[in-house]
Amino acid sequence: MPIDSQILRNARIYEKEKEKTIPPEARPAFHLSARVGWMNDPNGFSLYNGKYHMFYQYHPYDSHWGPMHWGHAVSEDLLQWQYLPVAMAPDKPYDRDGCFSGNALTLPDGRHMLVYTGVVTELSPDGNVTELQIQNLAFGDGLFYTKYTGNPILTERDLPEGGNRSAFRDPKPWQKADGTYRMLLANDHIGHGGQMLLYRSDDAIHWSFVKTLVENNFRLGLMWECPDFFELDGKQVLLASAQDMLPKGFEYHNGNGTFCMIGTWDDETETFTEEFDQAVDYGLDFYAPQTVLSPDGRRIMIGWMQNWDHCNLHTPDIPWFGQMSLPRELSIKNGRLYQAPVREIEAHRRHKAVHRDVYVSGRELRLDGVEGRLVDLEVDVRPADPSHMYEQFGIHFAKNDDFHTEVSYRPHESTLKIDRKFSGSRRALSHQRRAVFEPNGGRLKLRLILDRFSAEIFVNDGEKVLATTITTPVDAHDITFFADGDAVINVTHYQLEF
Ligand code: FRU
Repeated sequence: MPIDSQILRNARIYEKEKEKTIPPEARPAFHLSARVGWMNDPNGFSLYNGKYHMFYQYHPYDSHWGPMHWGHAVSEDLLQWQYLPVAMAPDKPYDRDGCFSGNALTLPDGRHMLVYTGVVTELSPDGNVTELQIQNLAFGDGLFYTKYTGNPILTERDLPEGGNRSAFRDPKPWQKADGTYRMLLANDHIGHGGQMLLYRSDDAIHWSFVKTLVENNFRLGLMWECPDFFELDGKQVLLASAQDMLPKGFEYHNGNGTFCMIGTWDDETETFTEEFDQAVDYGLDFYAPQTVLSPDGRRIMIGWMQNWDHCNLHTPDIPWFGQMSLPRELSIKNGRLYQAPVREIEAHRRHKAVHRDVYVSGRELRLDGVEGRLVDLEVDVRPADPSHMYEQFGIHFAKNDDFHTEVSYRPHESTLKIDRKFSGSRRALSHQRRAVFEPNGGRLKLRLILDRFSAEIFVNDGEKVLATTITTPVDAHDITFFADGDAVINVTHYQLEF
């Protein structure tokens, strides 16, 4: 298919050449990372012609954010990704300053449709630069995409009163059982913070405003971004990412972080009734997730495994920046969102090592066969003597004499902490995050999934998850256990191979 855009052609040539300078060992093994340059949000996460498609916010020319393109990759198992040529570039009058986040749908005629936010910056009479954010479509076959000649499809004219034209983005469309379409869009309601706007369409092309579905009123941060909205285990779930959040106890500590609202949906009146909200990830790096429904009915979520507050401080000479989280299967238990690594990862487990009833007291306990940087590690901890509770139990990983990252549990506070101070960071950023659990007699169940440049810790079968990126040299691969007091652990360890 001929490409009518010089900007897109240039990006394709550039990424193909530049990619050759990045050896496979210099990037994650099973987390999708920027092909070259910069990556942020997942976009258009969908199943199309039997493959999972993941697009992403992409600036190929630099490992810092810049004019947004849509990078593109496909996978059959959500873990091993194959890059495809960059799908969209900012090359039209209605998106010339960026193709921002959006989503994908399969149309009844079989075409893959991308819906995204176009950004146009304008110089206002007072000399300030303002952004106009408008919604656009592109149609494709899974490889080549052509922007719709009728773009834009939604503009500031489609905003309710008080809606900010400079913060109107990140469309999430879906098809209803009756064949019609709905779409959520994030918007700033001036003076009230973020809101989620509902639009409808009969053909997925022509859209009109229905109503404001959810309002922030400064409950959770300021502006809201990147909505996802779906049914799960009989409930309705809204995922969105909030900017500039204030912590509430141990919830929402990330400044910019993702929240989950669980509620009910009345399809007649199209009303979402909120019941409960919580943070989605309690670690340092997670934002802007999207979900897809797998052919066997699992709701699977992938987020950008980064945080806007940390990401501009990386080493500039590394030619890629930004990676996605593990694909996580979602469910609702006890009214909360639970997350589990997709079971596809189990096919990559090798060299099982099991250690049962191991007594841990003091530091630096090593266990046979337990080491590495591509790892799936389950650890159940309990006190050696319940009447003498240990003070602290912890694990060091990505460790050698110079580096380690720590995860540690204090049963008296019932808090779990991730600490990456010694993970290779050259910046004095916040390197710790804590999550709190119901006290359970000093018992806690951890599952750590390590890739070369990240750790994701699933606690108590996915009740809470803590994700962090690390920049530790890959030869730091020891794993050790420690306790202040006397703890006992059961350990199951696998190397992961890809
Ligand atoms: C979220 C976000 C989106 C926007 C995109 C721009 O991380 O700010 O709201 O579409 O990034 O890259």
